[in-house]
Amino acid sequence: MFSILNVIRCYSDNILTVFKDFACALVRKDGILERVIFKMNIFAIGDLHLSFNKKVIPGQWDLVEVYKPMSLFGEKWEKHYQKIYENWLEIVSEDDLILLPGDISWASDFVEAEHDFNFIAGLPGKKVLIRGNHDYWWQAISRLRSQVPENCYLIQNDSLNLQGVSVAGTRGWTVPNSFQFTEHDEKIYRRELVRLELSLKSIKMRGEKLIVMLHYMPVNEDHEKNEIIELLQDFQVDICIYGHLHGEEAHKTRLTGEKWGINFQLVSSDFLNFKPMKILD
Ligand SMILES: [Fe+2]
Ligand SMILES: [Fe+2]
Repeated sequence: MFSILNVIRCYSDNILTVFKDFACALVRKDGILERVIFKMNIFAIGDLHLSFNKKVIPGQWDLVEVYKPMSLFGEKWEKHYQKIYENWLEIVSEDDLILLPGDISWASDFVEAEHDFNFIAGLPGKKVLIRGNHDYWWQAISRLRSQVPENCYLIQNDSLNLQGVSVAGTRGWTVPNSFQFTEHDEKIYRRELVRLELSLKSIKMRGEKLIVMLHYMPVNEDHEKNEIIELLQDFQVDICIYGHLHGEEAHKTRLTGEKWGINFQLVSSDFLNFKPMKILD
């Protein structure tokens, strides 16, 4: 399989068509027409928790300034952005898709998130974002979509189809029968269910694989079935990724692997040791 950049490099004047979902192109090779399929790997990493005070110059890590030092949450988080940057660069290429399921920036508005978005935009791949519980900068969606860098796509009540893969999602919330689940949680949980359904229903032409991004784990600590899971099953979701769980104790409660015909993966950055996880190739 080829990457789109390789195809451009190799065939330059002989590319006849690049199909609209960037899945393949029609090229002329030695006078013969050939269909070239592009390769796209899919990675995920949640909870970047960025808070840059000024432009980040990769390599000059000692000069980086943050207003919310994550090292407060343990030694593991010391210069976590450097680990993310270096690991990401090592494994993700420009043609790949990288899913960022929430808690992206500590900023309170988009202006404050400027340096965080410059950092993300400067990394390879097309990024798909959903909102986490700390993403206060995520406000009016249509305005935001016109502000974010070109290689970032925000999912909110909609979905994305790219190269035979569909991606839907929403933030999610604490689910019923979880520790300390209240009446107030019930309301937010119900609203998130509606949002997830809207997102899944917005898929016009389902790809070969369907991935759902959530910020919250979709089950309680006992991994009991609930209406989110039923929705995922109704839409025959293949993979469900989520973040939000931080620290060893929280990680122990995770649901990972196959259950109810769905592959679940926890991708919070500290759980992944700040290295994006390949979820599909
Ligand atoms: Fe988080
Ligand atoms: Fe969170």
